Amino acid sequence: MNIAVVGTGYVGLVTGTCFAEMGNHVICVDIDKQKVASMIDGKIPIYEPHLDVLFERNLKQGRLSFTTDLAAAVKDSKIIFLALPTPPGEDGSADLSYVLGVAEQLGKIITEYKVIINKSTVPVGTAEKVQQAVAKNCKTPFDVVSNPEFLREGFAVDDFMKPDRVVIGTDSDQARKLMSDLYAPFVRQGNPIYFMDTRSSELTKYAANAFLATKITFMNEIANLCEKVGANVDMVRIGIGSDDRIGKRFLFAGIGYGGSCFPKDVQALSRTAQDYDYDFKVLTSVMEVNYKQRTIIVDKIRNYFNNDLKGKKIAIWGLAFKPDTDDIREAPALYIIDILLKEGVTIAAFDPEAMNNVKKVIGDTIQFCADPYEAVQGADALLIATEWSVFRTPEFDKLSSKMKSKVIFDGRNLYDPAKLKELGFYYNSIGRKNN
Ligand SMILES: NC(=O)c1ccc[n+]([C@@H]2O[C@H](COP(=O)([O-])OP(=O)(O)OC[C@H]3O[C@@H](n4cnc5c(N)ncnc54)[C@H](O)[C@@H]3O)[C@@H](O)[C@H]2O)c1
Repeated sequence: MNIAVVGTGYVGLVTGTCFAEMGNHVICVDIDKQKVASMIDGKIPIYEPHLDVLFERNLKQGRLSFTTDLAAAVKDSKIIFLALPTPPGEDGSADLSYVLGVAEQLGKIITEYKVIINKSTVPVGTAEKVQQAVAKNCKTPFDVVSNPEFLREGFAVDDFMKPDRVVIGTDSDQARKLMSDLYAPFVRQGNPIYFMDTRSSELTKYAANAFLATKITFMNEIANLCEKVGANVDMVRIGIGSDDRIGKRFLFAGIGYGGSCFPKDVQALSRTAQDYDYDFKVLTSVMEVNYKQRTIIVDKIRNYFNNDLKGKKIAIWGLAFKPDTDDIREAPALYIIDILLKEGVTIAAFDPEAMNNVKKVIGDTIQFCADPYEAVQGADALLIATEWSVFRTPEFDKLSSKMKSKVIFDGRNLYDPAKLKELGFYYNSIGRKNN
């Protein structure tokens, strides 16, 4: 099949590349000329494990191409995916200007039947808005389908190639048939394709993200309580996670959720509820708790240094919002850096993939280091903000010899507190007894 993907970011590029890998011809469109030029040159613009191999192969074999020309991309493509940004607007609702802007353009371009599939995360009722935006300039028949994306950055290729489920919102038989054929190779192991109305499909995505954000937040509150009552959140996590109804995943306490999805999606769902006069109390609490949790470790650092951080040097390991990605959108590390800099701290940081992106945002206000040990040289404390594998088993001897003081604040609970105590470190983590 010939497919156009409009918007070639984390979702669009994975979508386009994976459909190409299944033998389709995919043309990806983006307005970012530089990005498109470098992709045509064979350079992949994001870090996502395993995507580079597929990207190169499909580019070489001519099944994957890139353009800035929307009209050229959709000319021969019956299937048009929209993978466009839906950032939070000023009132917290999802900004639909990218999606509706492209929909209007499509209305002026298409001259034969197309299926326009929305992969962006959008509020209930958006499919109808897209339908209207296209129809404004268009007499040609077309269908608008909702097909939310559930991939996780860091596992995006695997998630896309073997989805737990595919959710498709449509009331058109023609579109349903096309979507079934398109996704058939991805669900050969029997994972379901759920067809539903567009409103349920759109809400499914928000409900999934809001539920996961709530699960993380609940566990962070349990962790905070553990510190007060002298319990260990890791024990509680194991204790509850073995219950099938709860499940083991998304139970790790830490310094809050970040990323390009959870914060904005929880906010947008809360906004949708308000628009429909519904007071979604749980979501309000989730946002409040997560806001505080992102910087809870700063309070611990302040306490340790008697509220005087001026002139201290702090090493930070991890800048991305989670491991295995270079995405720094809403990363807790950035909020922490902002506060620490304002309080006169000097920061030396290391992240395996995200440093270039951080540099673009905060310039040289912090020192970017070539490896984890360069960052801790002469540091008064080490703060761990992202659980990259490389931080899991550091050489503690080397840390001891390089750091000015053997002090670790661990926002991701990577180490055993008893072991760190034995090694002579002051170690403070989340929801556990600290020495
Ligand atoms: N990142 C994720 O993990 C993830 C997962 C599931 C769903 N989503 C949703 O998917 C959507 C896209 O997210 P993303 O992370 O891929 O965003 P992104 O910012 O990485 O990518 C968006 C791309 O769209 C391009 N673009 C903007 N306007 C355009 C236009 N008019 N024409 C063509 N291209 C245009 C941008 O240049 C950018 O390359 C969002 O709604 C997001 O909530 C994201």
